[in-house]
Amino acid sequence: MAKLYINEKKKEGRINPEVYGHFSEHLGRCIYEGLYVKEDSGIPNKNGMRTDVVEALKEMQIPVLRWPGGCFADEYHWKDGIGPRENRKKMINTHWGGVVEDNSFGTHEFFELCEQLGCKTYVNGNVGSGTVQEMSEWVEYMTFDGVSPMADLRKANGHEKPWKVDYFGVGNENWGCGGNMTPEYYANLYRRYQTYVRHYQQAAPIQKICGGPNVADDNWTKKVLDTCFASPHPANAHGFMDGLSLHYYVTPGGWDKKGSATEFGEKDWYLTLSKALYMEELIKLHGGIMDQFDPEKKIGLIVDEWGDWFDVEPGTNPGFLYQQNTMRDALVAAVTLNIFNKHCDRVKMACIAQLVNVLQSVILTEGEKMLLTPTYHVFHMYKYHQGAQLLHSDMVGAETVGSDDICVPSLQESVSVQEDGTITVTLANLSAQDSCPVELQFAEKKPSLVEGRILSGGLQAHNTFEAPETVKEEAFDAVALTERGASLEIPAHSVVSLRIR
Ligand code: AHR
Repeated sequence: MAKLYINEKKKEGRINPEVYGHFSEHLGRCIYEGLYVKEDSGIPNKNGMRTDVVEALKEMQIPVLRWPGGCFADEYHWKDGIGPRENRKKMINTHWGGVVEDNSFGTHEFFELCEQLGCKTYVNGNVGSGTVQEMSEWVEYMTFDGVSPMADLRKANGHEKPWKVDYFGVGNENWGCGGNMTPEYYANLYRRYQTYVRHYQQAAPIQKICGGPNVADDNWTKKVLDTCFASPHPANAHGFMDGLSLHYYVTPGGWDKKGSATEFGEKDWYLTLSKALYMEELIKLHGGIMDQFDPEKKIGLIVDEWGDWFDVEPGTNPGFLYQQNTMRDALVAAVTLNIFNKHCDRVKMACIAQLVNVLQSVILTEGEKMLLTPTYHVFHMYKYHQGAQLLHSDMVGAETVGSDDICVPSLQESVSVQEDGTITVTLANLSAQDSCPVELQFAEKKPSLVEGRILSGGLQAHNTFEAPETVKEEAFDAVALTERGASLEIPAHSVVSLRIR
């Protein structure tokens, strides 16, 4: 039997709530229809934002939202998206599906959405095709509370007070869609552009995110940090950045053969999970390089794009990246979030791609209908980790499972404690076949209460608009308290969360 040792006396750092963050791009039906339907829609909304989606995201406790891209960010000119809607420019979204972008969702609408969600804001600026002046004016427009051309323009557009920008990304994937730059070239541009991301609100400085590597590109990480980390000016005590991004998508058969989101066998199951577990290697790789520059871990690794990327659903626009979401996605989310928790000393924010109707979404919509995906339920079950203290945990004796030459551990976990002393244990059983007995043992604690929740279903189980609750979170009673812990049998391919007092 596997044993999970939990040392409740060994706190290993705070799990930043933003690790449970999300990403929304002007891509397919993420913004338009998924989040924003305009005020005159028949779909219930508040100031154009879908009420059903907003309510579900609040219940999931969304902590931060990144916008407007992605690749779209490096083609986005923010002035196209302000002022009276009827005057806003219409353009072609060349990256995503070649559809008309009418710019009806812009800066004001983004902040309205985040206000309704009660989440932090992460705005991504344009380095690839934008100017320093454009970026600098956007920051002034959003955050300056005085008399200035951009603050006056914001007021003229109906918003007297500035908003709070919590995070600002200086470009996106500048090694690729954001300008095909070399690390040396981007690093120099980063230094220049970020200079004009001014801290107009001294009490709430903007956290600047530097564009980091793609997957395992350690050369990018080294060269960018070499140029951008250290700053000769005492005013920039943390160097020029507060975080470095990392993008990694799980594509089971590689970019040419991503495979179906719903039609797959055991081999694909294990291949997908083994690729999800690779996230830990990436954190160690880039984190190790960051340690050389920043041993005190002042800057964060910001995994602001992650998740499964499969073939689009048959019959849908290939540029819309619309995919279904099964128990396999739930397990990918569960193991990835456990990894982030365990590396909370370096991973300060992460944004799954993307929030609604695009890639590994937590919500899918079809006109006025909405459903919660298995991935939603994982975020919901894990929400108690947000802001909690990571506890040291060790899984011992769990079997290795797999198919052909692909092997993964059967069980994987993370554990945290909230301020009121409640301990959250999140466990994933990666086995496609077998349930696993597991015994939890604390160092000293004698627990008096345990409450369990479970997400389970067939490997390919998913929610459809006809059957939206095929996969849903349920109470899990098959857990018994022991003298110094608890024992349970976790069903095959399921995710369990325990709340222990
Ligand atoms: O999330 C979809 C796209 O993937 C983003 O626009 C881009 O940054 C990444 O390549």
